[in-house]
Amino acid sequence: MRADHGKFDLDQLPCTAFRVTLVHRIRSHCAYTRQGRGLWPQRMSRRRVCVETRWPPVLGKDDAMLQDAFGRSFEYLRLSVTEVCNFSCSYCLPDGYRKKPGPGFLRLDEIARLASAFADLGTWKIRITGGEPSVRKDFTQIIETLATVSGVRRLATTTNGYRLKDNASQWRKAGLQAINVSVDSFRADIFHKVTGHDRLEEVKDGIEACLDTGYEAVKVNAVLLKGINDQDLALFLDYVKNRPVSVRFIELMRTGDNADYFKRYHVSASVVSKALVQRGWVRKTREVGAGPALEYVHGDYAGAIGLIAPYSKDFCKSCNRLRVSALGKLHLCLFTEMGMDLRSFLQSDDQQDELKAFLGKSLQSKAVSHFLDDGITGGNHRFADIGG
Ligand code: 5AD
Ligand code: SF4
Repeated sequence: MRADHGKFDLDQLPCTAFRVTLVHRIRSHCAYTRQGRGLWPQRMSRRRVCVETRWPPVLGKDDAMLQDAFGRSFEYLRLSVTEVCNFSCSYCLPDGYRKKPGPGFLRLDEIARLASAFADLGTWKIRITGGEPSVRKDFTQIIETLATVSGVRRLATTTNGYRLKDNASQWRKAGLQAINVSVDSFRADIFHKVTGHDRLEEVKDGIEACLDTGYEAVKVNAVLLKGINDQDLALFLDYVKNRPVSVRFIELMRTGDNADYFKRYHVSASVVSKALVQRGWVRKTREVGAGPALEYVHGDYAGAIGLIAPYSKDFCKSCNRLRVSALGKLHLCLFTEMGMDLRSFLQSDDQQDELKAFLGKSLQSKAVSHFLDDGITGGNHRFADIGG
């Protein structure tokens, strides 16, 4: 078998082929995922589909790095600490969070072990996500715990901002360096309509508190919604005129729960990029290791505008992140069928080697891309479950 990219017949793959990642823009494969069947080649091997893959799998520059079979390295972990959210954003939790029976969310000791293993494998950036991460009573301790993990150089969170005004300074002191705050609209009535909460002013005060407290990066996330905020670029531009804040417009993504909503409100981020270019904004050159956002800047503005367009070509090429859910499941992609349980490796300090070996091995089954274009959203019912 050639040790490079190529087209192989599945039947020719060696029996250890479960370590091989499959590239699947192949209809027959998509049928498999729709039926909820696994992606392992063994199960597919009787179907003579041709897959593009790399063999042998790339294990990294040295074996201590998390690298997938396509040469992408994963130095960024998005760690969800709760599925609970107090907001009810129309695209995410329109009916609000409902408690589910089952195990609790990751405990502090589990979080610490998880982060150390990832950091040993080269992860240097961790973003704490949710649900709304700050609903956790021990949120400040989570920050402290993660900030002291050796190798973690960047600690960030994504929040709806409801506790920001009173806590920005405390969280910064605990070791939080960067923050993304969701603000889908700078019109109070629209903000209320989208999130179910009339709290725009509070959230804005929270962002000011972050700017005053010396956060290294402050970003605003806005999900782009047709007829709701897609004509409001001017308001967002006003906001970043004198503030060193980067607004990220995120294309609405289809999840298992929002198919009708998606049809009605999805709009391509190109409406924003075109308007930006018309107004003299220029695309920043991509930095090595940068994530999938395309960033635009303008000499007259202190802030920046970023676009996250998961439906665009090559979006997945720059994928640099892995996700762990609040229940301790590893998600190789936002849109994979199901997560892989890590929790059983998080129960004592002497399981670190086992955990690291499992992570390295699991990564080899990361696919080259999502299948959103085929209407496949995997097991992601809504972002509050995995942390967007
Ligand atoms: N599409 C895109 N982004 C989403 N988020 C939640 N649901 C979606 C979706 N369907 C993102 C928003 C929010 C963050 C918590 O998750 O950016 O700010
Ligand atoms: Fe909560 Fe974020 Fe989902 Fe809104 S998008 S409901 S703030 S988890």
